[in-house]
Amino acid sequence: MTSKRPLLNRRLAEFGTTIFAEMSALAVRTGAINLGQGFPDTDGPETVSEAAVRAIRDGRGNQYPPGPGIPELREAVSSHQRRFYGLAFDPDTEVLVTAGATEALAATLLALVEPGDEVIALEPYYDSYAAGIALAGGVRVPVTLRPRDGVFRLDLDELRDAVTPRTRLLLLNSPHNPTGMVLSPDELTAIAELAVERDLIVVTDEVYEHLVFDGAHLPLISLPGMRDRTVSISSAGKSFSFTGWKVGWVTASAPLVSAVRSAKQFLTYVSAGPFQYAVAEALHLPDSYFAAFREDLRAKRDLLSAGLTEAGFEVFTPQGTYFITTDITALGERDGVAFCRALPERCGVVAVPNSVFYDDRDAGRSHVRFAFCKRAETLNDAVTRLKRVEG
Ligand SMILES: Cc1ncc(COP(=O)(O)O)c(C=O)c1O
Repeated sequence: MTSKRPLLNRRLAEFGTTIFAEMSALAVRTGAINLGQGFPDTDGPETVSEAAVRAIRDGRGNQYPPGPGIPELREAVSSHQRRFYGLAFDPDTEVLVTAGATEALAATLLALVEPGDEVIALEPYYDSYAAGIALAGGVRVPVTLRPRDGVFRLDLDELRDAVTPRTRLLLLNSPHNPTGMVLSPDELTAIAELAVERDLIVVTDEVYEHLVFDGAHLPLISLPGMRDRTVSISSAGKSFSFTGWKVGWVTASAPLVSAVRSAKQFLTYVSAGPFQYAVAEALHLPDSYFAAFREDLRAKRDLLSAGLTEAGFEVFTPQGTYFITTDITALGERDGVAFCRALPERCGVVAVPNSVFYDDRDAGRSHVRFAFCKRAETLNDAVTRLKRVEG
């Protein structure tokens, strides 16, 4: 190649290697405990993995499944929405199966955003949002979540001020990665009113819907005026501890699902045939599974929160998700990136600096995220190591 032109196009130029790749490589090189990336170190229910094996053996899903997803899974998603939220979705026209929430997000943005449209997202944000908005040619407009009384909160006035005549979409994530914030019913009501008033589409990333530790998850799409303007996205990865299967879904009105399907069909077309059968079974697990899963993670949150507090971190107690965000200022540290690069050598633990999830990097400079979706003995070991951080 002799051209001076960069290989990577300008929409993606700012997105190099993700911090997760760097930190996970560091964990491997140093033998540190990896609390950086959000994946469980224990697989989900055996009945569910057996269902996947059975599907492969029985020849179900080994060839291209139907474009919108297998009917059994679309039925199961619809009945899950009815069971947990009292919401009715037509499995044929209002449910779309995707390759994880990641493809659902990308397809939604590609389908609904014209170049130059503004997309409001809560900052710090999950890293695929910025890339998805960029791929669609959109302009991202961050609204920054800030700590208040020990938890992160959304400033509704800031959100209102961020809406302009060019705003096409609001991209929300609750429970929120990386801060653990859960939008309250009052906040969701105010957001719904704003969306109706300003005629916005709202995309809700609800992958942690079963990990709300206080109260219950409330889907925005259930609020007045939101049924036909919300694209609700979730996936099986987090709820069933099979993050590698990448089975996700969209639930929305038929016209919105149809638009998202138009983009999705040219991304993966279809994916994960046999896993779709297994996830259909998983979604029918009894309420006791979901309650036990949440309680297990709540205990792990409490274990790691207490350990981090004892080790000298300021802890923002998460109301949901897999993650705890901390502030390292109390440890005499200021820069989360430098801190995380040094942490494996200092005490054998890997974490992620929140600043990588910001446009306004200063807003998250001293914040560091730890994942607690790990075995209790791993978390106990990590806590013992982290107590060496001050010394
Ligand atoms: C907020 C959020 N959205 C989406 C995803 C991706 O979900 P999936 O693995 O189903 O693509 C993650 C995974 O970490 C996440 O934290």
